Amino acid sequence: MSVPFIEFKNVIKTFRQQDKEFPVLKGIDLSIEEGDIFGIIGFSGAGKSTLIRCVNRLEKIDGGSIRVGNYDIENLSPPELNLYKQKIGIIFQQFNLLDSRTVFKNVSFPLEIVNKSKKEIKERVLELLELVDIVDKKDFYPGQLSGGQKQRVGIARALVNNPFVLLSDEATSALDPVSSLAVLDLLKNINKKLGLTIVLITHELDVVKYACNNVAILEEGKIVEKGKVRDIFLNPKSKTANLFININENFLRNDWADKGEGI
Ligand SMILES: Nc1ncnc2c1ncn2[C@@H]1O[C@H](COP(=O)(O)OP(=O)(O)OP(=O)(O)O)[C@@H](O)[C@H]1O
Ligand SMILES: [Mg+2]
Repeated sequence: MSVPFIEFKNVIKTFRQQDKEFPVLKGIDLSIEEGDIFGIIGFSGAGKSTLIRCVNRLEKIDGGSIRVGNYDIENLSPPELNLYKQKIGIIFQQFNLLDSRTVFKNVSFPLEIVNKSKKEIKERVLELLELVDIVDKKDFYPGQLSGGQKQRVGIARALVNNPFVLLSDEATSALDPVSSLAVLDLLKNINKKLGLTIVLITHELDVVKYACNNVAILEEGKIVEKGKVRDIFLNPKSKTANLFININENFLRNDWADKGEGI
């Protein structure tokens, strides 16, 4: 059997405030294969963003282990941790672009931090802007872009350091359905072209169905179900998976049927 590229073993994360403890991740076991597009779906507050923040080491875990590639991420020296963080690309729901910088300068920022030469920066940034198809807006500021265009810039910035994983935290949740599909198509294309492992965090069933091969269902800090997207959604076992599917497929239908407008 192949060794998974990302491996969570009994991951525990507990927030503490004053003398109270808030357990958020309660023993996560999960394996993600290299080159996969893996979805993690759950309702609000399930712990999805916390899990992602533990992977990119914005948060430290309280127990268990996370391995990404050859990095046992809780046991890295400061230089190793710096290198590791450069290898993790991340995109967010609210894009997190710098408003005072142009598109070009937003994408070049991570390269400036690591002191790349001007020539190298220009070549790499233009290459990425081509990949996400937004070269024509390179001198625009974020305030002059649509949501879908902003997310393309976010994706270009996330890829600029050649990461070995791309983490997406609700990257399409703020977009209209057409822009959302376009961004998911772009991610699928990048996965295929670069072989990049992508972890998609979402509370949207359609995102998982459209873009992911495998999925894990996160419910109150625990993985309650995992497997191939098709298998899970054809035969859901957990409360959360059943709720997602029912809300998605039946709620609107029944609501219209009640009004005598069955669809
Ligand atoms: N820094 C923190 N201190 C205390 N509690 C926190 C902190 N960050 C998150 N939490 C708590 O952890 C739980 C999970 O939060 P998280 O942001 O991971 O959820 P989520 O699944 O991403 O939700 P959403 O879909 O709304 O984004 C919540 O109850 C939240 O209040
Ligand atoms: Mg979240």
